[in-house]
Amino acid sequence: MNKLGTDLHFAAAQLRAGKLVGIPTETVYGLAANALDPVAVASIFEAKNRPAFDPLIVHLASFEQAQAYCQNIPDLAYQLAAAFCPGPITFILPKNTRIPDLVSSGQPTVGIRIPNHPLTLQLLQQLDFPLAAPSANPFGYVSPTTAQHVADQLGDKIAYILDGGACEIGLESTIIDLSIAAPKVLRLGGLALEQLEAAVGQKLALQTSSSNPKAPGMLLKHYAPNKRLRWAQEPASATNEPLADFSKTAWLRFSEPLAHVPLKQQFILSPSGDFKQAANRLFALLRELDNSTFDLILVEKAPEIGLGRAINDRLKRAVTP
Ligand code: TXA
Ligand code: MG
Repeated sequence: MNKLGTDLHFAAAQLRAGKLVGIPTETVYGLAANALDPVAVASIFEAKNRPAFDPLIVHLASFEQAQAYCQNIPDLAYQLAAAFCPGPITFILPKNTRIPDLVSSGQPTVGIRIPNHPLTLQLLQQLDFPLAAPSANPFGYVSPTTAQHVADQLGDKIAYILDGGACEIGLESTIIDLSIAAPKVLRLGGLALEQLEAAVGQKLALQTSSSNPKAPGMLLKHYAPNKRLRWAQEPASATNEPLADFSKTAWLRFSEPLAHVPLKQQFILSPSGDFKQAANRLFALLRELDNSTFDLILVEKAPEIGLGRAINDRLKRAVTP
């Protein structure tokens, strides 16, 4: 049987049997299992080669269902859910005992997200359990934005991949911690910080560094392809590369091509400077460059506003230390 398809009944049957299924979301593809079944959840960690200290996000069909898995949900969570769910936001909330410790990596909180993709929403409605799902990439690699990306990297470890086409946003969800008195953003993502702050009615603290113990998945080197990536702003000599031959160097640009570099060596995120388009193409372009014959990729920062912040956050994690 073909591993890729749109057979919801088959996907649901696999999940009920404790198997792993690749699922489409508006952000990136997820590697899903029954969140209430610790054995199934353990196989997610195994397939991704993910350290058990890195907690998983639990996906639900609607935010109302969070009451079954969380406690002391603040009013702000309901407000934000009304504004943005289903959508690219994950809420960190105090969990109850129905969520296995393996899902939350022993923390008293759980990440809750309502993904905005018709196939996955239908799937969640058919199931009587929520889905734990990290991004469907091997640990530390670029997140997948098509079903084929998932098949290429994890195909042999997954029972089925629901093919929902290319992800609309292409960057992971924005994570907000609402388990503490003063809400904090733990990951910049598909929902722009400005939009979130406007809905909350205040500036939000950001805690997205590699040393953040509450989002251990935000390791500094996290979205990294295998090729060497450097900031284009660095003086060429700082790359320690011989300067003579630039034919194996590619430039990943935000919108404007460089006048003095051949166009075939330049990869433009969005020619019109559109943040949505740039975010949407980022991971696919990193993947394409990783599979290319270029051996050095010089990346340019996006303007540090809106989704540009999340793009720069991912680039920062992808550049070679
Ligand atoms: O867009 C997304 O969020 C995608 C799609 C599949 O939903 N999922 C995703 O999952 O990006 P993952 O596992 O690749 O990233 C989840 C991040 C990790 O950095 C993890 O540390 C953090 O969420 N996280 C999960 N539960 C947490 C918790 N209880 N407290 C703090 N951080 C948490
Ligand atoms: Mg991930």
